[in-house]
Amino acid sequence: MEIVRLSPNIGANITGIDLSKPLSSGVIENIKAAWDEHLVVRFRNQSIRDDDLLRFSKYFGELDPPGPNPYGITFLPEYPEINVISNVKTPDGTPIGNLGDGEAVWHADMTYIEQPPVAGILYSLEVPVGQGNTYFSSMIRAYEALPDSLKREIEGKTLIHDAAHNSAGMLRKGYSETTDPSETPGARHPMVWTDTKGNRALFLGRRPHACIVGLTVDESNRLLDEVWSHATDPEWTWHNEWEVGDVVMWQNHLVMHRRDAFDGNTRRIMHRTQLKTFAA
Ligand code: OGA
Ligand code: MN
Repeated sequence: MEIVRLSPNIGANITGIDLSKPLSSGVIENIKAAWDEHLVVRFRNQSIRDDDLLRFSKYFGELDPPGPNPYGITFLPEYPEINVISNVKTPDGTPIGNLGDGEAVWHADMTYIEQPPVAGILYSLEVPVGQGNTYFSSMIRAYEALPDSLKREIEGKTLIHDAAHNSAGMLRKGYSETTDPSETPGARHPMVWTDTKGNRALFLGRRPHACIVGLTVDESNRLLDEVWSHATDPEWTWHNEWEVGDVVMWQNHLVMHRRDAFDGNTRRIMHRTQLKTFAA
């Protein structure tokens, strides 16, 4: 097993491991350590089945079933714990997966619930070459680099995380559009997250429809725009240019991600799990 850093501040590539086979506890510990250090890890050239993806995911914690999608569909009825991210439609026009072919704006997953998943794991089965890149940004580095004045301004502040829209901007089933951000439906979380290891990280969810509790909408927008411009600085991001067989996993409380739009005439299919909690 070899671990190679992919950028100065986030991401590592791991080689020498076949995820279609059970892994020893020693190997799992080494992956965990690399994941804690680099926040995002990638394995290339994997050829795995859904059962393998589930077994691998469960080494790291408790599975969290997919959140609601705009279509109200369970994409893989035989594997309800697995989500599908895809633009492909069946001949009758039913999407086989979520998020379409547009941009997915910067976000962490499902932060609009009280206990957002701690991690996401994506496996690419079909990808358009050179398109639909996925970007990851370290919220630990972003917080560290925040000017002291901004750190003071957000200290103790709580943010409303929009439950109504997904990262592709589509309305989730059962929600309607709102215009006043202070009335956005969704969980409220501290803007600075301290994890069990004592890491301090920005915790922003997503920018559209967000609002800081206790500020006017204008004040909230001003402060959020300033903080967001740091959070997504290329200095602490890395992006994956997908190949078929990539497995990429990220720590969802400490990392944000976004995806480029891609040509809708191409096919992109990913199978995906997420974790509710990390293994003890
Ligand atoms: C996700 C997600 C981005 C992508 O699965 O949570 O945001 O690259 N996916 O499809
Ligand atoms: Mn996501």
